[in-house]
Amino acid sequence: MSLENQLLKWYLINKRDLPWRQNKDPYSVWISEIILQQTRVSQGTQYYNNFMKRFPNIEELSISKESEVLKAWQGLGYYNRAINLHKTSREIFKNLNGIFPSKYEDLIKLKGIGDYTASAISSICFDEYNPVVDGNVLRFLTRYYGIKDPIDSKTTQNKVKEIGKKLIDKTDSPGDFNQAMMEFGALICTPFPDCNSCVLSSKCISLNNNEVEKIPVKLKKKKTKERFLNYIVLIDKKNNTIVEKRVEKDIWFKLNQFPLIETNFKVVDIMRMSSFKKFINSQKTPIKIEKYSRHNVKHVLSHQILQITFHKFKIEKEISSGINLSQLSNYSFPVPINNFINKKLF
Ligand code: ADE
Repeated sequence: MSLENQLLKWYLINKRDLPWRQNKDPYSVWISEIILQQTRVSQGTQYYNNFMKRFPNIEELSISKESEVLKAWQGLGYYNRAINLHKTSREIFKNLNGIFPSKYEDLIKLKGIGDYTASAISSICFDEYNPVVDGNVLRFLTRYYGIKDPIDSKTTQNKVKEIGKKLIDKTDSPGDFNQAMMEFGALICTPFPDCNSCVLSSKCISLNNNEVEKIPVKLKKKKTKERFLNYIVLIDKKNNTIVEKRVEKDIWFKLNQFPLIETNFKVVDIMRMSSFKKFINSQKTPIKIEKYSRHNVKHVLSHQILQITFHKFKIEKEISSGINLSQLSNYSFPVPINNFINKKLF
């Protein structure tokens, strides 16, 4: 049997029963594919269900506030995905009469929709013959065909896409075929696969050459950067604190945080730092510190190690325009800050 037919047969028997596979509604497929771009199915499913409950269709999403969408995304990371989902829902609702584009060429014009998402939506919902190339597909096809080019290069990705195009064109179910490739990579051709139980093992070139562990090849790993984030948590007598929105094009863009002093080193005594003094002097009401303590956490992102210190100050005077601690759950925070708040470590 041909590879494409073997894959389709395998998929129809083994596919997971996932909520976005219940129908071919482009809105739900779009939301699921954006979530799954950087998130595993096991974690993504819960977010998907909550997101769909909160924003069941394009209209609901488009009339919501960006901050509400970010709140629903809290903990998923890569928050630009949520910002773009929201922008694109408004674009579709206002300028496209609320009708989701069905063609790859139109989908790819939308913010946050690239080749992968346009291929997934157009094939799964509208039967277009556009192969998807995600991490799972890259791993599976490079192993199956014994391709040793680095998968993090655009040239290799285009080469794999061409292979995918030849395969998908021979099927009569492009949406199922694309999902079959992704599912096979996710469940069978995993980073550490059990090749003995793989139905494609006899024709897998890397297995036959004893090179499964060597493929996929990746270019040199991006260096990880260490950062030191000092959050100033002022708490007044009425349990008010200061919260601000992140405005730099950086991690956690548009999420909230306590006032931040970023340094190149681990801070020993924040009260002696000029940036801290400047911050304190910039407050409308003069600040008298009653009690100081701190809490350290290390938070690891894909290419950054964050050494975070929460500097906690109990202060005497009331913070003007402060936010009460009981209101913090209405704001979206990065995971380490949210953990700090939820554990009531302030
Ligand atoms: N990963 C991302 N999208 C997927 C899909 N539709 N099926 C299986 N795995 C996926």
